[in-house]
Amino acid sequence: MTVALIGATGTIGPHVVDALLARQVERRVLTRDAARARTVLAPGAEIRQTDITEDEQVAAGCAGARSVLLLTEHSRDMADLQLRIMRALRRLDITIVKISGTSSAIRPDGPYACRQHWEVETILRESGARHVILRPNAFMQTIIGQILLPSVRETGTIPNAIAESGISFVDARDVGECAATALTTDEYTGQTLVLTGSRPVTYAELAALISNRVGRPVDVRDITPADIRQTLVARGTPLWEAEHFEEMYALFRRGESEFVSGDVERITGKAPRNVEAYIGETVRDEVGAGVGEAAG
Ligand SMILES: NC(=O)c1ccc[n+]([C@@H]2O[C@H](COP(=O)([O-])OP(=O)(O)OC[C@H]3O[C@@H](n4cnc5c(N)ncnc54)[C@H](OP(=O)(O)O)[C@@H]3O)[C@@H](O)[C@H]2O)c1
Repeated sequence: MTVALIGATGTIGPHVVDALLARQVERRVLTRDAARARTVLAPGAEIRQTDITEDEQVAAGCAGARSVLLLTEHSRDMADLQLRIMRALRRLDITIVKISGTSSAIRPDGPYACRQHWEVETILRESGARHVILRPNAFMQTIIGQILLPSVRETGTIPNAIAESGISFVDARDVGECAATALTTDEYTGQTLVLTGSRPVTYAELAALISNRVGRPVDVRDITPADIRQTLVARGTPLWEAEHFEEMYALFRRGESEFVSGDVERITGKAPRNVEAYIGETVRDEVGAGVGEAAG
């Protein structure tokens, strides 16, 4: 069995590749940068340099594969790109496993990227293509690993735009395992699966967990979703993306990302990984000098 992967080299993709390797499934990675993909991924995958805006290259890259991972980065044209890929695959006998976004935000009026996921999901369901849709909540590796831990390293504080609300963060490794199952079995065909951790966690709890691990105080600094937009715009982030994050954090602040689903456990047979374990593994140095530097 061969599985094709689009989007294998980012946060989620390498974990999908690892989970497929553990199942001894052949992996065919379609990437813009073959040399980089070789450095990022576990060895043994077939790496194909591919321009995913070229329909012939996408169809050739997926020919003969049982299934394909459909994941592209958060970009302004994400829906256009993914709909184009789906069109290129229309004549292939292949299961499309789409990575979507936070379930409560997938609406026609949701934040920018979530509106795009809604459009892709809607057309995928109507297309008649065999598919599985995975809706992960916020990744621990992104918000904790890429935002909060660097902030602790630089300022000793974490910025909190979501007040007293929590987020049921999911570990990217659990998303990888669920995606690998969806790519290799028929069990979930046609389903939309919601991937969360086992409980919502507030920023105050995260600060306490990080503080405990680094052995010094970590304060929570209250900010607003509008502050996030302003900071991003000041750093040169495009307006659509800054507004997306403002809307996303406003949704988190309303408690709309606190929902908990049993789908990770149903698919993997194990309880979802928790933030305590993630922070414990990721914060390597107890005195804090290496906060967040270990692999996430
Ligand atoms: N971050 C979160 O907390 C979170 C939560 C829920 C859902 N999501 C969703 O997850 C997805 C992002 O996943 P991720 O964080 O694993 O991705 P990522 O780290 O941003 O990586 C994006 C991947 O897209 C691939 N890609 C290939 N061709 C592309 C093209 N022309 N344009 C853009 N990307 C291209 C890249 O592959 P090459 O460079 O190798 O070609 C790369 O592997 C988004 O759809 C996002 O909405 C994110």
